[in-house]
Amino acid sequence: MVVAIDGPAGAGKSTVAKAAAKALGFTYLDSGAMYRCVALAATERGRHPAELAPELWIELGERVMLDGRDVTEAIRRPEVSEAASRVASDPAVRTAMVAGQRRLLADGDWVAEGRDIGTVVAPDAAVKVFLTASPEERARRRAVELGADASTVLAEQAIRDERDRTRAHSPLEPAAGAALIDTTALTLEEVVERIVELVREARSHAGTAGP
Ligand code: CDP
Repeated sequence: MVVAIDGPAGAGKSTVAKAAAKALGFTYLDSGAMYRCVALAATERGRHPAELAPELWIELGERVMLDGRDVTEAIRRPEVSEAASRVASDPAVRTAMVAGQRRLLADGDWVAEGRDIGTVVAPDAAVKVFLTASPEERARRRAVELGADASTVLAEQAIRDERDRTRAHSPLEPAAGAALIDTTALTLEEVVERIVELVREARSHAGTAGP
């Protein structure tokens, strides 16, 4: 089964997706980490992201490995966030990443998070969730995480949001049939409980619709 969790930066996707995966005993897929790896490699190597993307060896798990090197911390730097959102608007980069993500999701039970999981990568996902929160709350959370100034984060976030939402290829939007969850005033536990409930419902529907 695939649980697709999409939404803008700072909506709580990573925390929620990791916690939901743990609660359900599913594997967690951070698709954003893949775009971040492409951005980091392209910047460091001075190569074109589209040309580089299919050649990269990206391993996701407790640590993120890029061609055998641990880049877990490096890919979270603000300049990599910015570059990731730029490389992610390149259709050739997306094609390479989506192919890799589909290969992974083909087997087993997953909680996959990103921008286009429910719309493009896994449109048949049993459960689709679109997480949102107010821009101020999202910036506040990210600022705490980075130890940065909230107003600077808010300004950078607005640029990235706009780019993700208006790009021609796979813009950020809720998938058909996605449950919208506004996390502004919810605790992590409440959001995870809601997702576990959606999985329960999906399972019982599958049970009643089956042979
Ligand atoms: O953690 P945050 O939500 O800020 O970003 P992320 O999920 O690590 O993704 C970094 C960038 O990759 C985003 O700004 C998106 O432009 C892009 N991305 C995407 O286009 N499609 C995905 N499935 C995941 C990320």
